[in-house]
Amino acid sequence: MTPVVSVKELMRDMIDPASDYVFDSIGTIVTKGQRREITPKTDADWDRIRIGGVMLAEGAYLLKVPRPFAPPGDENNSAGPDAEELSPAQIKAKLEHDPVLWNAKIEALRNVGREVLDIVKRRDVNELWDASDNLDQACENCHLEFWYPGELEYLRKLDRHLDQLYGSQRPSRTEKFGMSPK
Ligand code: HEC
Repeated sequence: MTPVVSVKELMRDMIDPASDYVFDSIGTIVTKGQRREITPKTDADWDRIRIGGVMLAEGAYLLKVPRPFAPPGDENNSAGPDAEELSPAQIKAKLEHDPVLWNAKIEALRNVGREVLDIVKRRDVNELWDASDNLDQACENCHLEFWYPGELEYLRKLDRHLDQLYGSQRPSRTEKFGMSPK
């Protein structure tokens, strides 16, 4: 299998749009103090969610096809000591250092895709809320590890600080993201 686009483009043009089919299907909109719940109602609504689920469940494995992380010449926001993003070369080095972790993040994304497909079969609106949460975490978990790990450091510091203030009874941000068993 040979890739056509970089990881960055695969994200922008496939994984991200696919996830919107799920994210946009459920939610609460507040305008002028009025709350409005968005839930799938029609066959077409559920069709869109299924399309998103298939694209995510199958598309996730395209991340296993070795491909550049960004188009040639694109270095991400990686310049300077406080760079927000890793450069494509840094991401590549991370993957080579721990390919098992990269694959685990891919499986996690694929699993949420499968969860979505299962929910569509049962048309279970309540579980769709969870799936949307899980999807958000599957994306964030990989990004925090491979794209902007500085933010992970920030969350860990925040956790330590909040622990000092409030004790360790509250749920930890990094634990929530499945990043670090405290
Ligand atoms: C297995 C790891 C992994 C998973 C899972 C993942 N991403 Fe990404 N994503 C990346 C990496 C790595 C980059 C940065 C690539 C680069 O810029 O070099 C990225 C970049 C992006 C970008 C930036 C594209 C651009 O044009 O700048 C978006 C948007 C994005 N991801 C969305 C998502 C969404 C939405 C999900 C979940 C549905 C997701 N990603 C899941 C690894 C992942």
